Amino acid sequence: MGLIPDNVIDEVLTRADIESVVNRYVLLKRQGTNLWGLCPFHSEKTASFSVNPSKGIYKCFGCGKGGNAINFIMEIEHLSYPEAIRHLGALYGVEIPETGYSGDSVQKEAKNRVKDILKEAAKFYYKSFNDPEIGRPAREYASKRGLSKQTLDHFGIGYCPMGRPFLYDILKEKGYKDDELLNSGIFKPSLKNNKPYDLFRGRLMFPIFDSFGTIIAFGGRALGDEKPKYLNSPDSIVYNKQNHLYAMNFARKEQSTQLIVVEGYMDAIAMHAAGFKNTVAALGTSFTDSQLKLCSRHAKDEIIFFFDADNAGQKAALRAIKMMMDYLKKLTGINIRIRIAKVPDGKDPDEYIKTNGAEKFKEVVRNALYVEDYLLERAKEDNTDPETGVLDRGRYQEDICKYGSWMTDEIKMSRMAGVAAPLLGATQQAVMSQMQRYQQIEDKKQEQQDTRALERERREEIGRRNSASEFEDYPDPEEPVEVGEQSSKVPEFRKVNDSATKEEIDLFAYALSLGSALSDTKNIDKTDIIRPDDFSGDTIRELVRIFLNIFDGRNETLFARMSDYFSRLTINGMPAEDVMLKAVDAADKCGNVKIKSDMYLALLCKVRTAVINREEERLMNMRANADSSEKSKIDEVMRRLSDYKLSLQNKIGEL
Ligand code: UTP
Ligand code: MN
Repeated sequence: MGLIPDNVIDEVLTRADIESVVNRYVLLKRQGTNLWGLCPFHSEKTASFSVNPSKGIYKCFGCGKGGNAINFIMEIEHLSYPEAIRHLGALYGVEIPETGYSGDSVQKEAKNRVKDILKEAAKFYYKSFNDPEIGRPAREYASKRGLSKQTLDHFGIGYCPMGRPFLYDILKEKGYKDDELLNSGIFKPSLKNNKPYDLFRGRLMFPIFDSFGTIIAFGGRALGDEKPKYLNSPDSIVYNKQNHLYAMNFARKEQSTQLIVVEGYMDAIAMHAAGFKNTVAALGTSFTDSQLKLCSRHAKDEIIFFFDADNAGQKAALRAIKMMMDYLKKLTGINIRIRIAKVPDGKDPDEYIKTNGAEKFKEVVRNALYVEDYLLERAKEDNTDPETGVLDRGRYQEDICKYGSWMTDEIKMSRMAGVAAPLLGATQQAVMSQMQRYQQIEDKKQEQQDTRALERERREEIGRRNSASEFEDYPDPEEPVEVGEQSSKVPEFRKVNDSATKEEIDLFAYALSLGSALSDTKNIDKTDIIRPDDFSGDTIRELVRIFLNIFDGRNETLFARMSDYFSRLTINGMPAEDVMLKAVDAADKCGNVKIKSDMYLALLCKVRTAVINREEERLMNMRANADSSEKSKIDEVMRRLSDYKLSLQNKIGEL
């Protein structure tokens, strides 16, 4: 397999120590040999996320996620395995050779083709926009909306013509196949004959970039009142709209400590043109958790949200605030301020800038309310009768207590209570304690929800691991392929046997715990090193085989590298890393190398004895149906086995 070479991965895992990798995302506290923090992968109130620096792994005892530094980055940054290695390589100064071919090379190749298609499409839209004839309606529309040539070019805005030429024909000519075109999301199969046709017609085209500036999708705006106003390309193998923000590729270059989030493409563009280059836009969906995380990574101090003044916009505001507050509560240590901006007269930022200019807009940004002030105002506005001006006290109380319970600290909560108290005719203290009661109820509800979700996730995860019917997904670079065996190796769908006895698990755990000592200790002979066929189940055999391949007498990254495989397999129906981590921890604690190696040898003898017992049973069965010459051969083998068993028992006695 043309994977990133093992020694390079090793180097990455050595330099990118798990503690500093995780520290970028989670506040960790030391407790014993491990570090603990709040899990970034599920919501929780007590720290069940642990990092073990000496093994180079992390593990959440709540949601069960675990692995090495590479797995952590894959999970938190939504990257593939090679992408995560490259990401860490860049951070920790390890040069990663271009492989051009990787484990999921088919998928990667397909993605690259799609990215090429989208790039070609963008070129075509851009050319069409600037074509004197074809692009005229689009240029007229753009100028009506005040888009300068510079802005249009900066954002790569184009036009997809109403009729011919069709993008489809152009890309076919360039050699792209129908299924590749369909993969890109900007074509749809016709109902008649499945032939792809252009998704966009007669629209102003906005390329959507990922954070690094690669085109991954398009949004197309109607030039008139046609519906839908914006047509967006659907999620595809390169695009998941929940994970991206429009204009983030430009905004992140500003390296501003502040990020502005708006609702529309045009708002983001207008704001960039007006000098607010740290602006991003949601992509036609309500804000998602992962978009918020993306924001918080690029805004160290402050995120300012603009929400449309309409009902939907205001609802979205509350949802996003709640989500953000929940997220911030988890990240003790990170202190991002949230502010909510309101554009006067129910306009959106684009319209406001166009009528009032950039200078006036600066004021709007400056006047953005702190989240607690915004919520105070919201509670009052939402519950005041617009005609009589009378406040519905009961509902106001409900809202205030709810919003108060969202606060990340007591000072903010107390401030809110102080403002609301006179309106409620109550003391600040009374309001505050009611808020705290809400928080407790909310916490409990959340916890129950989390637990249920976790249990479900865990069941699914174990189901998924158990349904792995072959080990072929688990690359093993060194496995010798025997000629002639290849063809018979093709699909043989057999359920993997993931069973292992306690002694087998412990034996393997002692081997892992001994690490380099396994080959350096005098009393452990070469023949005493575990072999796959010492074990009975498929999974544990496979893991031992991988261990022997990885094992090169160095300890630092041994467990971290194994954890990659552990995370994909089960032992006795349990996540393999849970089982092995527990067993290795016990082995680690058992004493010095001498005691450990004795324990190891004792277990080895027991496990090998069990192998012989199984073999003897098999031979006995064979013997029952054998003729006399076969019988004598079997007897001979059984004698040898019995001798060997005896020698093992003697060895146990000596230890
Ligand atoms: P708006 O309806 O507020 O439009 O949608 P807008 O941003 O002001 O657009 P202009 O100024 O009329 O051109 C806000 C965002 O919601 C998504 C788009 O991302 C849009 O920018 N949207 C809206 C869609 O995806 N599809 C639609 O049909 C409408
Ligand atoms: Mn608008």
